[in-house]
Formats: sequence, C-alpha cells, structure tokens
Amino acid sequence: MSFNAFITRQIPEEGINILKKFCQTVEINPYDRPLTYDELLGKVKGRDAILTMLSDRIDERLISESNGLKVIANYAVGYDNVDIKAATAKGIVVTNTPGVLTDSTADMAWALLFAITRRIVEGDRLTRAGKFVGWAPMLLLGGDLVGKTLGIVGAGRIGTVMAMRSRGWCMNVLYTTHTNRNAVLEEMLGAKRVGLETLLRESDFISIHTPLTKKTRHLIGAKELSVMKRTAYLINTARGAVIDEAALVEALRNKQIAGAGLDVYEEEPKLKPGLTELDNVVLAPHLGSATIETRTKMAIMASENIVAVLNGQRPKNCVNP
Ligand code: GLV
Ligand code: GLV
Repeated sequence: MSFNAFITRQIPEEGINILKKFCQTVEINPYDRPLTYDELLGKVKGRDAILTMLSDRIDERLISESNGLKVIANYAVGYDNVDIKAATAKGIVVTNTPGVLTDSTADMAWALLFAITRRIVEGDRLTRAGKFVGWAPMLLLGGDLVGKTLGIVGAGRIGTVMAMRSRGWCMNVLYTTHTNRNAVLEEMLGAKRVGLETLLRESDFISIHTPLTKKTRHLIGAKELSVMKRTAYLINTARGAVIDEAALVEALRNKQIAGAGLDVYEEEPKLKPGLTELDNVVLAPHLGSATIETRTKMAIMASENIVAVLNGQRPKNCVNP
C-alpha cells in the first residue's frame, strides 16, 4: 500500500525519518510559520496521516473535508485543538505524546516559579539597562520557598513530577485531581488532596497542570484569584484558557496576588491587554516541552503512532474514547 503523510511544521529529523521509511510521500510545511486554516484545509485533503501541532485548529470542518484520513498525530500531550468527537465519528484515530514531556514541562514550571519569586527577569532588565549601580540591601527582594505550601491543580503526570521536585525545599503539598487520590504524592510527600478553594486559600505557590476541557475553561477566574493569598504566586504551563487571563491582569495590576509565571495564554500568540506592562509577571512563549531531548522523543512518538495506525495496529497513545 502507498501512504501519504503531511507534517504541519518542521520537527526533529528522527521522527520524519520514521515516516519516510513507511510512507511513500511525506510532505512538510516548508514555512517557518503555522499554516493558515485555509492552507491547512488544502494540505489535509487526500492524506492518510497528518502530524499536527497544538497551534493547528483541527476542527469538525477540516475533519469532514479530509478525504481518507486515518490518523491525526498531535505533537503535544494536550489535544484541545482537535475535535475528538468529530474525528471519532469519522473513524479517525487521534494520538498525543504523553510521558516524554513530563519532566521538561515540570522543569519549565519550576523555572517560572524561580524566575518570578527571585525576580530574575526584572533583574536582567535592570542590569542590561545599566541600572545596576552596586549591591543594595533592599534591591529586588523576592520570596523564600523552604517550608512553604505548593498547590498542584491537576495532579496528573506533570503535576506529580512538579510536586516531587518540591522535596528539595521541604514544601507542604496540596493537590486537586478529578480522578483518584494520588498515592505517590500522599505516600512520598505527605501531600493532601483538597478542594480547589482550600488549595487556593492555603497555597503560597499554585501551579496549574490540568488539561483544557469544558470543565476547566476559566477554572481560575476573578473569584478564585480573590481567594488566593496576597503573597501567593500563580504558575501556568498547562493551557492559557484554564485561567481567565483578563481577570489575572486585573489581579496582578491590583497586587491582589504577588505574581505569576506564564508559559501559555488564552489566545496564543495574542496576550490580553495590559499583561506586558506588569512587572509582577514572567512571560514565556509556550516552551514547556522545548528541550532538544523532549522534542526529539515527541517526534519519534508521534511518528510511531502514525505508523502503527497505518499498519492496522492500535497506537500506543490513542486519545479517542
Ligand atoms: C504542550 O503544551 C503540550 O500539550 O504538549
Ligand atoms: C500530562 O502528561 C499529565 O497528565 O499531566
């Protein structure tokens, strides 16, 4: 049989080579930018497989106009950009890349946590601007981590690793989860499962690790932000829309919370007005999984998922119900 695959962005060669060995045709978006929706519509037609990015909107229309498509391999653990229901109805397998990006994403959450609490980006700006005129007793004072309370919203794979790393600072850990209690966190860290409101009220650092679903959209809004301590920090490496970003801008502007470290935004790559004017937020351009090692593993995983489906096997990382 002859297979035809399309990759919506350049990814590490290790993955592309797997596809090239198996498919007669592998076309890659030649541009250093995402395709527009219309370009994508044109490219998807007649493909057996597409390897997609979280920035591609794979909606019902695109799925219904695809012809003969068998598999959508999303190059991400999150798959809120794909209409799973529409794909499933057409018998199209959808896969993601769980596990391989757990450590790098947890590291990114910690990097943001440190950057905001120790004011590293503010300090960098000040130093580059030639305003470092000598050590000063009250210059850019931040906050300590040791013994503080870390709140994990969504203790899945990434949330669990985020929490495990807190052992280095002897932190108390609270967590929420929509599934069963997290035995690893409870046994290894003495973590406590609590409701969201308790977590918001008692945590000094809150890190978001839930997928974006109908239930988690704007999980953290004005009301939730108002429950947080004025000294608390909010970290988000999950999906922007889990937080009401406009409400967060307000809370940061009014110093209702101490600060935030964000890797994701509600309408990427757009930011809500006012966000870039604030000093008490660190802004990263969605880099959670952005290490050479992780992106290579993601490329291999996504490609192997495609090959499995085209081979008539069940892929390892199927997300259809
Ligand atoms: C990144 O955000 C991912 O879902 O992999
Ligand atoms: C995703 O990998 C998660 O479960 O946190």
